[in-house]
Amino acid sequence: MVTAPHAQTASAPDASRTFPEDFLWGTATAAYQIEGAAAEDGRTPSIWDTYARTPGRVRNGDTGDIATDHYHRWREDVALMADLGVGAYRFSLAWPRIQPTGRGPAVQKGLDFYRRLVDELLEKGIQPVATLYHWDLPQELEDAGGWPERATAERFAAYAALAADALGDRVKTWTTLNEPWCSAFLGYGSGAHAPGRTDPVAALRAAHHLNLAHGLAVQALRDRIPADARCSVTLNIHHVRPLTGSDADTDAARRIDALANRVFTGPMLRGAYPDDLFEDTAALTDWHYVQDGDLELINQPLDFLGVNYYSPTLVSRAEDGGSHTSDGHGGSTRSPWPAADRVAFHQPPGDTTAMGWAVDPSGLYDLLRRLSSDFPELPLVITENGAAFDDYADPAGHVNDTARIAYLHGHLAAVHRARTDGVDVRGYFLWSLLDNFEWAHGYSKRFGLVYVDYPTGTRIPKASARWYAEVARTGVLRD
Ligand code: NOJ
Repeated sequence: MVTAPHAQTASAPDASRTFPEDFLWGTATAAYQIEGAAAEDGRTPSIWDTYARTPGRVRNGDTGDIATDHYHRWREDVALMADLGVGAYRFSLAWPRIQPTGRGPAVQKGLDFYRRLVDELLEKGIQPVATLYHWDLPQELEDAGGWPERATAERFAAYAALAADALGDRVKTWTTLNEPWCSAFLGYGSGAHAPGRTDPVAALRAAHHLNLAHGLAVQALRDRIPADARCSVTLNIHHVRPLTGSDADTDAARRIDALANRVFTGPMLRGAYPDDLFEDTAALTDWHYVQDGDLELINQPLDFLGVNYYSPTLVSRAEDGGSHTSDGHGGSTRSPWPAADRVAFHQPPGDTTAMGWAVDPSGLYDLLRRLSSDFPELPLVITENGAAFDDYADPAGHVNDTARIAYLHGHLAAVHRARTDGVDVRGYFLWSLLDNFEWAHGYSKRFGLVYVDYPTGTRIPKASARWYAEVARTGVLRD
């Protein structure tokens, strides 16, 4: 058969892209970033409360003490989601609200908050997707050594059991950890995140114990939740590109891929750490804390992999010592990458968001293709994608965030293309429902579909909210 020139254009006359009816459209948030009520109903400090209170750590000295006050305005926030017409909501449970010291029985009021929230979501036809850990480790557990210690993983499994006992009858989709790379390497390596430690060996130990925490938590969940409930983990898989095709740059990309991605996907999805990771980190650690049986424990069957994507990572071989431009997550000048002193990071070409992150939907497409080829049996869900821009409400009270709409359009088109090319992507959660506490950047970066006027707490849906509502309602992405 001879294909006519420009056949592709001819076959899609209205240039629209349709997603299947069961594609899950959602939005996402995390407890510390939105809840506030930091000292209410028995909640005690997490590492982020402590970190945010430490001068110089978070921009403007911002804290999550009040945040978007979601702890009190949750009903209004669920109503906003119902207006958006999304089918699912990804949120996290605050460990220090449920089990303040990280040990012992659950606090009833903490559980009640999430029960009410989940019931309201179900009532509105919105599927709850609960993340057990989105970075708010109870401070007492950090004082006892934190994620570099094995005991923290064991404590996490006990907390997972409490959460499953309380909510397992109504939450059908669970995620153990959100972006363990950030917890390990920004938390204990660069210090750009809580608890702010700068020890590469502690970062690698933390990575292993986060892996173990994931495996133990999946076991605890499966023992308690119904057989049709789903377990997952969310990883910020870095889409790493070499600056040139040279062997040296290709090797730099391989090294970062091991430290960012395969350190988690190896044990979680294949039951082994990659050999090259051991070789690259041999001068720092012999990994003796990986005990017999750990890899089997970590390698639990999952129902899907949650993928967070914002921007690609561009690297080359550094000729003299290496450099680290920015991790985009805060002000630390220390590298979060142990054993990567011969890798240089580069700003990828193209426009950037307010985070300074390059806008590149092709990175999402390539990443999805790669994951589907590496793990063909594992369904994928985009658990975060979105952008910060310098949004403001105009005198008429409108927030006209056209740049966000363009970003979302480009990335959803990439998801659609990946699906068309055979990748099993089942859903998309937009980060974020609301403007919120963007970690070391405090409230200076706005990712929301809904603008938050912090002095009053007033919520204003942005133009992107109306746009996304239309996509979610129709399942069609128009040009
Ligand atoms: C990843 C994190 O999970 C989320 O908490 C954060 O706000 C967004 N990325 C944007 O940086």
